[in-house]
Amino acid sequence: MGKHSNAKHVVSKNSHVKPQVSSKQPGQKQQSVPTKGLVSKPTSKLSELQQKFAKKLEGSRFRVINEKLYSTRGNESFEEFQKDPNLFNIYHQGFREQASHWPENPLDKIIESIVSIYPKAVVADMGCGDAKLAQSVPNKVYSFDLVAGNERIIAADIAHVPLENNTVDVVVFCLSLMGVNIVDFITEAHRILKPNGVLKIAEVKSRFQRYVIPSLSAS
Ligand SMILES: C[S@@+](CC[C@H](N)C(=O)[O-])C[C@H]1O[C@@H](n2cnc3c(N)ncnc32)[C@H](O)[C@@H]1O
Repeated sequence: MGKHSNAKHVVSKNSHVKPQVSSKQPGQKQQSVPTKGLVSKPTSKLSELQQKFAKKLEGSRFRVINEKLYSTRGNESFEEFQKDPNLFNIYHQGFREQASHWPENPLDKIIESIVSIYPKAVVADMGCGDAKLAQSVPNKVYSFDLVAGNERIIAADIAHVPLENNTVDVVVFCLSLMGVNIVDFITEAHRILKPNGVLKIAEVKSRFQRYVIPSLSAS
C-alpha cells in the first residue's frame, strides 16, 4: 500500500477463506426499511402458520436491509442504523439464520488463524456483527459496527473508526465491505495498521470483480 517501506499485505489469498454468501451490488434502487412493530409478539406464542409467515417476513426484511447496506455509503448506513437500532437486530437475526446453513463460516477460519498465528496481536474487527471474534480469542480486539449491539461493540462507521494511526497489528473485514465506498474502508484499515500489519479480508469474489475504482478505470 506504499505508506511504509514494508508494505502491509492482504492475506485473503492465504487465509483459505471461502466466503459463502451471495450479495447484491451497488447501484440498486434504495428502499426504506419498515421496521416498526416488527417483534410485536414472541414467535413461541404464534400458531404454526403465523410462525411460518413471521419467518418469511423476517427473511424479506433481512434482504431489504442487506441490499440497502450494499447500495449505500457507510456513513449513510451508520446514520440510519443509529436512528433505528432495531435494523441491526433484524439484520443479524437474518444473517445468523443464513449463516447457519453454510458448510463453513469464514469467520471461524479467521479466528483459527488469529489464535494460532497472531495470539498477541491487537486486532480491529471492522463490521464485527455480534463480536464473535472478540469473544473467541484472548487478544485485545476493537470491535466496530453500526450499532453497539452488545458491550464489546463500538458503534462506528468503518470508514472512520476512533483509533489513532498505527495502533493495531491485524485488521479484519469478514463479509463487511458492504458500502459502496469500499476504498474508504481499506484506506481506514491502512491508517490504523502498524507498519508490517496484516489485513485479512473474507469477501464474496463478485464484490471485487464488479467493483470499479473510478481513478483506475478507462474513461
Ligand atoms: C455480513 S455481516 C458480518 C458480521 C461479522 N463480520 C461476521 O462475519 O459474523 C456484516 C456486518 O458489517 C456491518 N457493516 C456494514 N457496513 C458497515 C459500516 N459502514 N460500518 C460499520 N459496520 C458496517 C453490518 O452492520 C454487519 O454487522
